[in-house]
Amino acid sequence: MNFNEVLEQKTKRARDVLQKYLPKEEGFQKKVLEAMNYSVMAGGKRLRPILMEESFLLAGGEGEIVEPFMAALEMIHNYSLVHDDLPAMDNDEYRRGRKTTWNVYGDGMAVLAGDGLLNLAFETALRAFDLAENEKHIRQVIRALQVLGQKAGIYGMIGGQAADMEAEEGGHLTREHLLFIHENKTAALIQAAMMIGAVLAGAGEASIAAMEKAAYNIGIAFQIQDDILDVTSSAEVLGKPVGSDERNHKLTFVSFYGLEESGRKVKELSEEALALLASFEKKNCFLEELIRFLVTREK
Ligand code: IPE
Ligand code: IPE
Ligand code: MG
Ligand code: MG
Ligand code: MG
Repeated sequence: MNFNEVLEQKTKRARDVLQKYLPKEEGFQKKVLEAMNYSVMAGGKRLRPILMEESFLLAGGEGEIVEPFMAALEMIHNYSLVHDDLPAMDNDEYRRGRKTTWNVYGDGMAVLAGDGLLNLAFETALRAFDLAENEKHIRQVIRALQVLGQKAGIYGMIGGQAADMEAEEGGHLTREHLLFIHENKTAALIQAAMMIGAVLAGAGEASIAAMEKAAYNIGIAFQIQDDILDVTSSAEVLGKPVGSDERNHKLTFVSFYGLEESGRKVKELSEEALALLASFEKKNCFLEELIRFLVTREK
């Protein structure tokens, strides 16, 4: 099988794992459940759960304990997108080739759908305790929950989104500010993916730290590429509007460094990530190919 076929298979697996934990659309709160499922099942690359499982495998993990966390992280990612698209934030009408959640269900229901996904994410992650077979597993699940909470919260994704919103107001914006935004709004969830994979595999502190650093690079590169595509791609290919950043006066790598330098940075950061992953005893060729693939991704 070539890389694209394996990627397709892994994407399907991530989707299937996620689907197992999604709510049934019934009861008086049916509408919000529909909105949640609409947001999550609209497609998407499923990059974070894939990175989590591949990091788990690279660190020598075995078994199914990673599955609730794969689903949980993708729920958090999707909630962040539902809120990111709201009129009060980026005001975008399309995502993954379909109308955004607020555009179908209204702003209020989209806010609640995002909230619902965030809560469900932690309920889902907690189910990993049912799969723990010994004391060591239990400690690993607790650590994984801490990583998830921190990287998704005010010292992670939410912190980055807040700084991103404030930067719209212009003023003197520094390289540090730009890096803070990318590190937190995007790299933090990628770090959660790869660190949780390592933690649940029983990796030692040095390996978890190497994963955190590699994921930092991958995450920053991923957001730079997202900013590049916002300028160079088309809505048809991307499935979301282009020019959103300019319309919202966003501070991006492209607005700061220009397209060419930004492209160079994506390559450089990805090479550094690959070098860090080479320190692991095992090898994961698919993960390496995936990181290379992300440099040239078109959506
Ligand atoms: C979009 O993430 C938001 C960013 C952090 C750039 P993805 O590009 O992973 O979105 P989907 O899940 O594949 O749609
Ligand atoms: C948002 O970055 C990242 C999130 C944490 C949601 P963007 O606003 O650039 O993401 P897109 O381009 O809308 O997917
Ligand atoms: Mg945004
Ligand atoms: Mg956006
Ligand atoms: Mg973007």
